[in-house]
Amino acid sequence: MSVHVSNHPLIQHKLSILRNVNTEPKKFRQLTRELAALLTYEATADMDTVPVEVQTPLAVAHCRELQEKIGLVPILRAGLGMVEGIWELMPSSEVWHIGVYRDEKTLKPVQYYNKLPVEPRVQVCLILDPMLATGGSAVATTDILKNWGVKKIKFVGIIGAPEGIALMQQHHPDVPIYLAAIDERLNEKGYIVPGLGDAGDRQFGTG
Ligand code: PRP
Ligand code: URA
Repeated sequence: MSVHVSNHPLIQHKLSILRNVNTEPKKFRQLTRELAALLTYEATADMDTVPVEVQTPLAVAHCRELQEKIGLVPILRAGLGMVEGIWELMPSSEVWHIGVYRDEKTLKPVQYYNKLPVEPRVQVCLILDPMLATGGSAVATTDILKNWGVKKIKFVGIIGAPEGIALMQQHHPDVPIYLAAIDERLNEKGYIVPGLGDAGDRQFGTG
């Protein structure tokens, strides 16, 4: 499995503001959208395209267009904040929500929302969640998408912990991971350190 950590200066600059305890929810949401778009730009660099001929006002241009149908799969709640930024880049992507929360005591993922239709409607899925902590939520969501029949899956997050990356590596070595940073560790409550705190609470003002 490949893990891509972007060193792009724009991404690193925005991440430093996102982490700051004094950054308020409005700014936090804006940065989450922007980081999601920038990371997705990198995550989609190897997508398949097909040749097309386009009539310009002057002549025919030989161009390329995306071939595959893309599904954005935000993990509720925190992944929701990543959708709008990516939609700006890929407005025709479908969005399929998956509800998973971590049980506070066991830290195990609990699924509570999934309205996927029986047949898969997209060829590529981008799983969106800012935080890859123990990795339980990402593994559970990847399981769901594979059972749905999706062959190409990528995980787009913002901060990952070594533990979460290792769990994904163990269960889904074929799923590449795109992040802005890999942090040191998880604390005893399963929070990423130094991290940014609770990504859902910081976006929705519920902390
Ligand atoms: C957070 C985060 C991830 C999950 C990561 O969600 O948004 O979904 O934890 O942790 P894991 O890698 O250990 O599974 P949370 O459970 O806090 O739910 P919320 O987004 O609804 O607040
Ligand atoms: N979920 C979060 O929102 N933050 C963490 O640090 C870990 C899980």
